[in-house]
Amino acid sequence: MTVSSAPGKVYLFGEHAVVYGEPAVPCAIERRATVTVDARADDHIRVEARDLSLDGFTVEYTGDTDYRPDVDVPAGLVDAAVGYVDAAVEQAREAADAPDAGFDITVESEIPLGAGLGSSAAVVVAGIDAATRELGVELDPEEVADRAYRAEYDVQDGQASRADTFCSAMGGAVRVEGDDCRRIDAPNLPFVVGFDGGAGDTGELVAGVRSLREEYAFAADTVESIGDIVRTGESLLAEADPDAEPEPELLAELGRLMDFDHGLLEALGVSSRTLDNMVWAAREAGAHGAKLTGAGGGGCIVALDETPETRTALRYTAECEDVFRAELDREGVRVETPGTDADPEVQR
Ligand code: PMV
Repeated sequence: MTVSSAPGKVYLFGEHAVVYGEPAVPCAIERRATVTVDARADDHIRVEARDLSLDGFTVEYTGDTDYRPDVDVPAGLVDAAVGYVDAAVEQAREAADAPDAGFDITVESEIPLGAGLGSSAAVVVAGIDAATRELGVELDPEEVADRAYRAEYDVQDGQASRADTFCSAMGGAVRVEGDDCRRIDAPNLPFVVGFDGGAGDTGELVAGVRSLREEYAFAADTVESIGDIVRTGESLLAEADPDAEPEPELLAELGRLMDFDHGLLEALGVSSRTLDNMVWAAREAGAHGAKLTGAGGGGCIVALDETPETRTALRYTAECEDVFRAELDREGVRVETPGTDADPEVQR
């Protein structure tokens, strides 16, 4: 049995624009997907997903990957969850040159599904890592990131950037621009995440931005302006001491850039009333800045606030179903010792 875990992420800046070659800066957060893999004697795949919760429901399924469970969540999301595990298995089989390998797989996730926190990337990254190790092959995190990207690319019909998968595999803050992916230094920013209990359809939202961008030159300019925000933000991070508490001036300026980014994403049509209401609740509570994170349409916002004020305000915001502080997770994919969930022993 092999158990691997990988973190989710928030976008400090740059979602959507990254699809068109602009840079983005996602940051891994201490909420993980854990995948347990047991090699089987036959070539069957059995997938059990626990805690893939959405709006208080739990997705549970067992059986081979053609089986679709009867659950109270949109079928598309269940299909997506199964699809990502399938794609991870395919990558692991290829990496280990074991096309007929069979597995029992259990997925446990602390990351809400389809909510902009990179749940699918974390599942794919942890799944590839665990399944290859179970077959006796150890990939370095960059290779896991690359294979996870290919898996997401297949499942999402080519509508995927390398941002989520690279961030989940490597941990910390990363910078992604096309195929150029690297880790960058960043202090531990005081992220607060608000979750509206919903989910957006990434494919549909990406397609919406694409057609706006094709139709209007000003929409294409808006995408480029998001790239300018990212470049400004990353130069601020580059000047900061990664091991010190972030200076108030840095937080104020990053916050201003996050607000600007949210405004442009809103203009591109990927926000929603619930996301906007949470963003405004955070700003009015004194957050340095707030924006949606991920594809949008519903799901999560991320705010910067080192005080408890934003969390308190979001707790009293009708549209907000869950709120939590999200520490930067400097560790990417890692092997866990089975049975020690509470205090996993780090083996990498
Ligand atoms: O909502 P998520 O975590 O799937 O993020 C989507 C980010 C996009 O930039 C909209 C698409 C992508 O693949 O980068």
